[in-house]
Amino acid sequence: MRISVLLTAACAFVFQQARGAEMPGLMPLPAKVSPAEGALRIDQTFRISLAGYGEPRLRAYAERLVARLARQTGLPLPAWPEGEPAQATLAIRCERAGEPAPSLREDESYRLEVTPRQAILSAATPVGAMRGMETFLQLVAPERESFSAPAVLIDDRPRFPWRGLVIDVARHYIPVEVLERNIDAMAAAKYNVLHLHISDDQGFRIESKRFPKLHQMGSDGVFYTQDEIRRLAGYARERGIRVLPEFDMPGHTTSWFVGHPELASQPGPYRIERHWGKHFPTIDASREETYEFFEAFLAEMAALFPDEYFHIGGDEVNPKHWSENARIQAFIRERKLNDNQGLQAYFNRRLQAILRKHGKKMVGWDEILHPDLPKDIVVQSWRGQKSLAAAARQGYQGMLSYGYYLDLMQPASAHYRIDPMDKDAASLTPEERSRILGGEACMWTENVSAETLDARTWPRAAAIAERLWSPQDVTDVDSMYRRLARISRHLDWLGLTHNSSYRIMLQRLAGDAPVESLQILADVLEPVKGYVRNRSNPTQQTPLNRLVDAARPESDTAREFAGRLERLVAGTASAGERREIREKLASWRDNHARLAPVLERSFLLQEAEPLSKDLAAVGAAGLEALDYLESGKHPPEPWAKERLVFLDQAKQQRAHLLLMVVAPVRQLVEAAAR
Ligand code: ACM
Repeated sequence: MRISVLLTAACAFVFQQARGAEMPGLMPLPAKVSPAEGALRIDQTFRISLAGYGEPRLRAYAERLVARLARQTGLPLPAWPEGEPAQATLAIRCERAGEPAPSLREDESYRLEVTPRQAILSAATPVGAMRGMETFLQLVAPERESFSAPAVLIDDRPRFPWRGLVIDVARHYIPVEVLERNIDAMAAAKYNVLHLHISDDQGFRIESKRFPKLHQMGSDGVFYTQDEIRRLAGYARERGIRVLPEFDMPGHTTSWFVGHPELASQPGPYRIERHWGKHFPTIDASREETYEFFEAFLAEMAALFPDEYFHIGGDEVNPKHWSENARIQAFIRERKLNDNQGLQAYFNRRLQAILRKHGKKMVGWDEILHPDLPKDIVVQSWRGQKSLAAAARQGYQGMLSYGYYLDLMQPASAHYRIDPMDKDAASLTPEERSRILGGEACMWTENVSAETLDARTWPRAAAIAERLWSPQDVTDVDSMYRRLARISRHLDWLGLTHNSSYRIMLQRLAGDAPVESLQILADVLEPVKGYVRNRSNPTQQTPLNRLVDAARPESDTAREFAGRLERLVAGTASAGERREIREKLASWRDNHARLAPVLERSFLLQEAEPLSKDLAAVGAAGLEALDYLESGKHPPEPWAKERLVFLDQAKQQRAHLLLMVVAPVRQLVEAAAR
């Protein structure tokens, strides 16, 4: 009797501890989480209150919280189920007005105390309250009879004030409604900067009333009107998110020159560039007329975007057109600018002076770093962590994007391991470290369309959001993946299509055939990594409707399978896990027979045939290895050799896709041969 009571108590204690570490399945993990006893019941009696400083966007956010809660739980809640602060299920208190516009200086801290009686959310500012509301929603989970939020005390604030997501709307135009739902997702993950890469060689995506030929001739007719931009910035402000505009200059500017060839360093004519990569057309930084243009253009754009910062790009300037222009080279000599780099620094200084007149601070990619520039600019490091530390050492503020390129199709764990304060930054003085403002994830869209943007960005971007919000010692990758799976479902409920589009795209590829066997294959595929796909020379007109476009950047099936196999090889897999491994291998072995007729009938799917065949052979090899391992028999000498030769071939990319279960099965074969 005593023993069983003790055991129950011990179990309860262990359970609490586990729940404490994991609970509340939050992402990003708050700065401080103290689990407590019990839970707050969430049912039809849910009431909310707002007290203290109030403003319309705070009330609107709270109303959306109620709507999301109703959708998440199915509880029939009125639009505004108001209660007295002392009795409300969720009592929100905001102390004061924050910054008038979303700002780097915003206080985003909040405190959320959930007891079995009530949840009390207190924040200094409306934006802090918004961050806390997202945390509250993440706590709500179904129980046997109703819904509940576990009792907990959360004291939270971001580690970095600059937590951004770059969306490249130039390579592929991304419609406003897609941007809006991504802003919703950003708010859920506690991002606070949407960085729009508005112009590049392949498109100029914003209406200029002053220079209408820019968007009329440089955008194929797909651009944002100024009204749309104002509404978008308002939508972001309602969620405590800044909108940072980037006009990439003086390289990456072909689309500008279609309507304004006089800005270019060579006479033209120019056409919108359809290929990806680094191109030669470059703004003529030597002509005074160029700066007259920018006086007017930047005045227009500075007034349109409320943010205090303005990004001028500055990356990958290919100086060929400068070098070939005798007048530009003479200008460099006369002004003692040394070389083309000196000319770019001169150009940046001129732009910076214009932006300053409009109250803007300049941001640029790390190539802009030059001792001639004033210290109030921000450097965005994309070429490595070294340049971030170098900027901080020279007195510049900076933020990190190196390691956060979502278009490279790396797993969430790879991004998660990159920390702005690691590597070269680790040796900075405290003052230098304080110049590191945070970082930005980057979603470049060479191979991404409006249809695939969500799935290329989420849920992996949430892992980067955690790196930028949570304390530096939050590094447990297994915990991250468990919580990432949960926030991924939350994002579905917000209207993101990162999960739903997968099935839709697979079904489209399969045509009238059942999609199940195609999904078994697709579940273990990932797009080829890095820029390999670009080497096959796709263009802006290449359709993005192939299996590689449907395949997820990170295969959960393969990752989970690899984890089980690792435990199997180490001898720690449970009986259930061993059964699952066998079932998976068998389902792969048997899949090709069902999938082959589907592939044959589809023009788009024929390229996947070798992958499907190989998956069957990988499954068969894995099952043989498993049989050897479990029976304790040693395989004959050539068996392992042949399987390993095959597996090394099967891990090559085909149709820009990788079979992600080859590596774990190879481990299994090696283990069987030992
Ligand atoms: C960049 O990726 N060129 C900023």
